[in-house]
Amino acid sequence: MSAIDEVKQKTDIASVVSQYVALKKAGRNLVGLCPFHGERNPSFFVYPEQQSWHCFGCNTGGDVFSFLMKKENLDFGEALRLLAQSAGVTLPSHPGRDEEKEEKERFFKINEAAAQYFQNLLLNSPGGTKARNYIQSRGFTEKTASEFQMGYSLNEWDDLKKHLQERGYTEDELVQVGLMVKSDNGRTYDRFRDKLMFPILDIKGHVIGFGARVLDDSLPKYMNSPQTPTFDKSHNLYGINLSAAAIRQQDTAVIVEGYVDVITAHQNGFNNVVASMGTAVTEAQVSSLKRLSRNLVLALDADAAGEEAMLRAVSYENILESEIRVAILPQGKDPDDVIKEDADNWKKLLSEATPIVDYTINMLTSKLDLDTARDKSLAVKELLPVIAEMKDKVRQAHYIQKLARLVNVEERTIEAELSRLKPSIDRKRKPIALSKQETYDYKSPLIRSSRLEEYCIALLLQHPELKEVNKYPTSEYITNSENREILLALQRFNDLSTLKENIDTAIHEHLDSLVKWELPPNNIEQKYDDCILRLEREFWKNMEKGKEEMLASEREEKGPGADLIKLEEEGIEPSLRMKETYIKKPRGG
Ligand code: GTP
Ligand code: MN
Repeated sequence: MSAIDEVKQKTDIASVVSQYVALKKAGRNLVGLCPFHGERNPSFFVYPEQQSWHCFGCNTGGDVFSFLMKKENLDFGEALRLLAQSAGVTLPSHPGRDEEKEEKERFFKINEAAAQYFQNLLLNSPGGTKARNYIQSRGFTEKTASEFQMGYSLNEWDDLKKHLQERGYTEDELVQVGLMVKSDNGRTYDRFRDKLMFPILDIKGHVIGFGARVLDDSLPKYMNSPQTPTFDKSHNLYGINLSAAAIRQQDTAVIVEGYVDVITAHQNGFNNVVASMGTAVTEAQVSSLKRLSRNLVLALDADAAGEEAMLRAVSYENILESEIRVAILPQGKDPDDVIKEDADNWKKLLSEATPIVDYTINMLTSKLDLDTARDKSLAVKELLPVIAEMKDKVRQAHYIQKLARLVNVEERTIEAELSRLKPSIDRKRKPIALSKQETYDYKSPLIRSSRLEEYCIALLLQHPELKEVNKYPTSEYITNSENREILLALQRFNDLSTLKENIDTAIHEHLDSLVKWELPPNNIEQKYDDCILRLEREFWKNMEKGKEEMLASEREEKGPGADLIKLEEEGIEPSLRMKETYIKKPRGG
């Protein structure tokens, strides 16, 4: 048995969840108020038999790992280690990895010491007066400055170096962590001098790097920590440590560009705002936000939105499994300006945020004359790749229709163009039954569903060409966290060794076994399609069952449930979705 399985076996999901949620019995299951969204009637279920959980309000679920990951902002490895510890399971150690971890911890400590040192200089040094005045001139209160741990770096070459060396850190370490620079002749000196310092913290509150601003109009205006073992600008979001709770609570994250934009937003009570630190939003940033909320709003100026709103945006939407919206800022203004001028206007801009695809379509077509044949064809050429990228076929159909109406041609013309565009698996698809041997023998519902998940992932691992159509099972259909981790990594990394590097070592054994699974030799594409369909069907079947149980327990308690009505208002209708998946009948099932 693998260590992960042992941890699972020795862990009871109900007792883990009970530490956060008051659970009541409802038949064979347990029910309570969802800890991930505000609700007054319970729609959060724990299924002890399957060792899984599901919330019918926010429509998420998974196993005990995903519960802890979500609740405590942990990654898979951290959740595993936490549970292993309380279950008394010793995990195999991975020497290289442990060393890496120790180094990181030490780097966090150095950065923390530096942040404290800068903060102290801001508050107490004569040189800090200039920076304090600057902070005031930007309209920040002392409370805000301290919340964001702002600081000041002296106009000296080796002040920080001396300070940290006295605390036992070596010159080498200081260079590695990016606080000092080594020049060509081997001399080292402080990287940040005479700057307003913005420590950059990760979601758990480690100081991972710094942003630094000049106090006048000189250039460059900003300087950041370089890429280090703790800091990768493209993977982190400024302000996430102070925003995570609000993002979850409001179920929306707003992404802006600048440090100052985040700080001003927070000072004005907009706490769900984070910054991409001046670069275009990356896939890694989107993936990390997805753990907090699926609703993203990008606050951009019109130019940036134009660039942003292309193919990449749709591929991010595929990761998020929801729409990204853009709030367009008035020409020449950033969020800091807008909020300071009129906070209500900022609210209004956010509430009027447009789905990024619609925005792209409007932008593009506003420049064209759609009465002419030439521009019609141009519009289709530009927009079709964006539409083709969409994983959600209902959304895709919506935009096909929209495009058809815009250029005033029949939908099937657009559809024909679309199928020319992608060497589609869909087209080659023929109804072929899964043979008997390939159906999944199972002992319990849990094992059955995870066999199916594994089959699907094994197909993807062994047949990378399946990734070309960019169609993956929704991560909600995957209950087992190891499978989920691999699926997410599969979507991000193309070769196996990179994928492996990017998942926790505890999952390697599981991954290896999936890579070695013996799969049937032919009709891979159909099998993959069927697999997704079956996962989908299973998911909705469970939803249906859950809904019935919920009804039953509500009836017992207090008559027909108000929450069920809410569920239906929110469009969560298992029966209907079930019907849909049955219409797309998988073969052989
Ligand atoms: P303020 O002028 O202080 O309001 O800054 P801002 O945040 O409005 O700056 P701007 O909109 O020009 O830039 C947005 C973000 O891009 C900044 O917060 C930085 O993260 C980054 N940035 C801007 N200028 C530079 C630069 O010269 N070098 C680097 N490395 N990053 C920059
Ligand atoms: Mn600004």
